[in-house]
Amino acid sequence: MRVHVADHPLITHKLTVLRDVQTPSVTFRELVSELMTLLAYEATRDVRVESVGITTPVAPTTGVRIADPKPLIVPILRAGLGMLDGMVKLLPSAEVGFLGMARNEETLQPTTYAERLPDDLSGRQCFVLDPMLATGGSLAAAIKFLLDRGATDVTAICILAAPEGLAAVEAATEGLDVKIVLGAVDERLNENGYIVPGLGDAGDRLYGTV
Ligand code: URA
Repeated sequence: MRVHVADHPLITHKLTVLRDVQTPSVTFRELVSELMTLLAYEATRDVRVESVGITTPVAPTTGVRIADPKPLIVPILRAGLGMLDGMVKLLPSAEVGFLGMARNEETLQPTTYAERLPDDLSGRQCFVLDPMLATGGSLAAAIKFLLDRGATDVTAICILAAPEGLAAVEAATEGLDVKIVLGAVDERLNENGYIVPGLGDAGDRLYGTV
């Protein structure tokens, strides 16, 4: 697993406002979208392209365009939805699939409760959106789900991560072609599974159910 922490003052500035308990939902949503576009720029550094010939007003030349099959963006419901528009803005030709992951309260294992994805992901580059990498259980399950469907490389984009979550995803995806792009790695998880200092419940803050 390759981990890339986007180290940029604009990202740290926006993260600081995002973390602030005083920041209202409307600003929170805008900041998640802006942060996502900045993280998407980092995450798409290895997006597959193919060369294409064009003619400028001055001369013929060769450039590149996003290759087929197009990348697939997969927000994890619910909070990953808040990251979708920022990603699509940068990668408008990508397709979008959805995954809903929840913990089975009996087995404590992450399970898939909703899925809208192409059956065959052979050769697809996938970008998974999940703002908070806390215990890592649902993100690891989502990544494995996509790889089992044939995805060739998977990049997860998270706004914040706990070291415990990173270690869990690393252990679950050992030897697989997985990359994680992050806004920041925080101190730890608390006893309730929240990232410390974190920003609280990302879904609640996005959708105003605090
Ligand atoms: N999910 C959240 O939304 N916040 C956390 O701190 C941990 C998991």
